[in-house]
Amino acid sequence: MAEIEINSLVKRFGAFQAVQDVNITVNDGEFVFLLGPSGCGKTTTLRMIAGLEMPSDGRIAIGGRNVTFLRPRHRNVGMVFQDYGLYRHLTVFGNIAYPLEVRRLERAEIARKVEAVARTMQISEVLQRKPDQLSAGQLQRVAIARMLVRDADVFLMDEPMSHLDAQLRGQMRAELRHIQKSVGVTTIFVTHDQLEAMTMADRIIVMKDGEMLQFATPREIFERPATEFVATFVGEPQMNVFDVRVARIEDRLAAVTEDFVIPFDQAWAQANRLDLRVGQTVRLGIRPEHISIGDRAEAAHGLPAELYSFEPTGAENLYVLRCGDVTVTTRSSTTQTAHLAKHEGSRLFAGFDPKWIYLFETGAGRTIAQAAASQTEAEEA
Ligand SMILES: Nc1ncnc2c1ncn2[C@@H]1O[C@H](COP(=O)(O)OP(=O)(O)OP(=O)(O)O)[C@@H](O)[C@H]1O
Ligand SMILES: [Mg+2]
Repeated sequence: MAEIEINSLVKRFGAFQAVQDVNITVNDGEFVFLLGPSGCGKTTTLRMIAGLEMPSDGRIAIGGRNVTFLRPRHRNVGMVFQDYGLYRHLTVFGNIAYPLEVRRLERAEIARKVEAVARTMQISEVLQRKPDQLSAGQLQRVAIARMLVRDADVFLMDEPMSHLDAQLRGQMRAELRHIQKSVGVTTIFVTHDQLEAMTMADRIIVMKDGEMLQFATPREIFERPATEFVATFVGEPQMNVFDVRVARIEDRLAAVTEDFVIPFDQAWAQANRLDLRVGQTVRLGIRPEHISIGDRAEAAHGLPAELYSFEPTGAENLYVLRCGDVTVTTRSSTTQTAHLAKHEGSRLFAGFDPKWIYLFETGAGRTIAQAAASQTEAEEA
């Protein structure tokens, strides 16, 4: 087991910076996710930790030992590659045994270890098959077994579930989280799937364009996102964000658009030490679960809206509404909205819960104000 410490890590390919100044400390036994869109530098970062790619700058230490320029086999790191990287001419047994053979373990011990890990990964029945005789789910289990079989200090996993169907992914999420916690080996897991990261991680690093935007627990990432990008990347359906202008209405600051006004909540403004200029343009964010809908104009839902599209998901109803020029997605339980109209063009009313509003800078996207509700909870914790 080991802590991973990364300082000022940079990777350039010619003039292109694939990874810019990554700084993280992953604690001993921690399950950390590297989350970001395609091309943001996740694989490159992981390959530098594994020793498969040399950094252009920076330092990597595992268990207090500087490994920045060590060869992969001197780092004691187990890895699952994005394409699995299994040997097609070897059986499943041969593939899992390979890292142990390289280390010249005795045959009996190799067999014992391979069989034990095959039981954990539920692939005992396919040990004599070749990779091209396996299903996607089995292939993935073999790749994970090959990583687990070694007594590695660190596990690195690059999108290990991206080839699986939705149902298998759901099963594997729980299984992998369970295995990681029971072996207790420090693990970095790369994914572009926010649900995977949110459900499995101890902490998440959100990356974009080679840059690290935030490194925090799933709950912090969700409730206190550092930027608009982070806010919209986690959560499904994603946070609604649109341009507003700051105005003063009857002694109170409010967000206004061409079509409606959202007065700011006093406690929320105070908690955020809100410092806005009247006339300033900002981006207002609110998650779908914090917009209520009704069929009459009441205090709770005062904004006239037109139903753009109705999307039932089973347990929940998604209503996509047009409030003037702004389109928002709302989310509510099926029972709450059972009585509401469901055909496009219906007149409805929307209510934005003022305690759950976020504000982001126009342009850079840095968070200016967080939901008040999340702040109280964070302080309680
Ligand atoms: N050997 C290379 N030479 C030049 N550019 C590279 C090389 N490897 C990666 N890149 C570029 O670096 C960037 C980051 O690539 P990387 O594979 O790390 O992204 P990723 O986050 O893993 O994406 P994905 O989710 O698609 O796997 C991309 O723009 C990619 O084209
Ligand atoms: Mg990748």
